[in-house]
Amino acid sequence: MSQSDDFDPTVYLNGAWGPLSEARIPVLDRGFIFGDGVYEVVPLYAQAAGPRLPFRLKQHLARLERSLGKIRIGNPFDGAGWRALIDRVVAENPGEGDALVYIQVTRGVAKRRGHAFPAGITPTVFVMLGKLAFPSPAERAQGAVAVTAEDKRWLHCDIKSTSLLGNVLMAQHAAEHDALETIQLRDGLLTEGSSSNVWIVKQGVLLGAPRGPRILEGIRYSLIETLAQDAGIAFEERDISEAELRSADEIMISSATKEVMPVTTLDGARVGDGRPGPVYAALYEAYQRAKTREFADEAPRAK
Ligand code: PDD
Repeated sequence: MSQSDDFDPTVYLNGAWGPLSEARIPVLDRGFIFGDGVYEVVPLYAQAAGPRLPFRLKQHLARLERSLGKIRIGNPFDGAGWRALIDRVVAENPGEGDALVYIQVTRGVAKRRGHAFPAGITPTVFVMLGKLAFPSPAERAQGAVAVTAEDKRWLHCDIKSTSLLGNVLMAQHAAEHDALETIQLRDGLLTEGSSSNVWIVKQGVLLGAPRGPRILEGIRYSLIETLAQDAGIAFEERDISEAELRSADEIMISSATKEVMPVTTLDGARVGDGRPGPVYAALYEAYQRAKTREFADEAPRAK
C-alpha cells in the first residue's frame, strides 16, 4: 500500500482514535515479535452521493473470522462491531476517490518473549484507511508484466497472516524485474501471486488453482467464478501446470487492489497475442457491474 508522505489518516488502535503518525504498539506485541496475527484489505469505493462504501465486506469479515479461528485468536468484534468501526474510519477520513480499509489483529502484547501463546492476552486491533489507486485505463490496455518464481512459503497460505516474508520477497523479486507481480509455482504447479490470485485461459476455459492450503482464497476468487458463470465462460478449478501457464491464451491476476488485471508478458515472453484478451475484458466489465449492483443494494444505508 503506497502512502504519500503527508498522508496521516485517523486510525483506530485498541479502542482509541488518533493520527497514524502517533499510533504506537509495545515492542512485545506478538505481531512485531512473531508476525503472530492476521489481516484484511477491503476496497472502499467512492459513491456519487454519501460516504465511500466497502465492497464484499461480509465476505472479508468471514475470511477474517476464519483466519483468526485457524490461529486460535478470538474474534474481538462481531459483524456489526466491525461494520461500525469501518463506518467510523471512513467518516473520520473524508476524502475523494476510492480507498481501502486495512484491518490487523494480533495475538496481543506478551509480558516476555516466548513462542507459545501467553495466557490471558488481549488481541491488538488496528484499523486504518489507506489510499488506493487502481490500475489506470492505459495500464489495463497495456497489460502487466509478471515474472515467475518458486513458491517457498509455508503450507498455510489459506490463512491471511501478517507473517508475509515469503510474499514480501516475491514482491521484491517482481520490483527488481520491473514487473507488477511474481507468479509462484510449487512442484511445477501454479499457486498464486505475491499478493493476488492468478487465472489462466485455455481455449476459452477459465482456470483457477485449487482452493486449499497452497493459496489464499481471495474474496475475488468466488466472485470471479460467479461472474464467469453469469457471462457463460466455462470455469475449472484444478491443478495448472507450468507448461499450461506458459502456453496460456490469457493470464490475469485478481486482488482487492487490482480488481482483475491482465498479464500480457510473462518472464519476457508474450502471453497469447500480447494484448489483454476477451475473457479478461468480459470479467472486468462484469466486475464493474457487480460493484454497481452491490452498492445499489446498499444505497439506503448510505443516505
Ligand atoms: N492481498 N493471494 C494473496 C497472497 C494475497 O495477498 C491476496 C490479496 C490475494 C487476493 O485476495 P483478495 O481478492 O481478497 O484481495 C490472493 C491483499 C490485497 C494485500 O495483501 O494487500
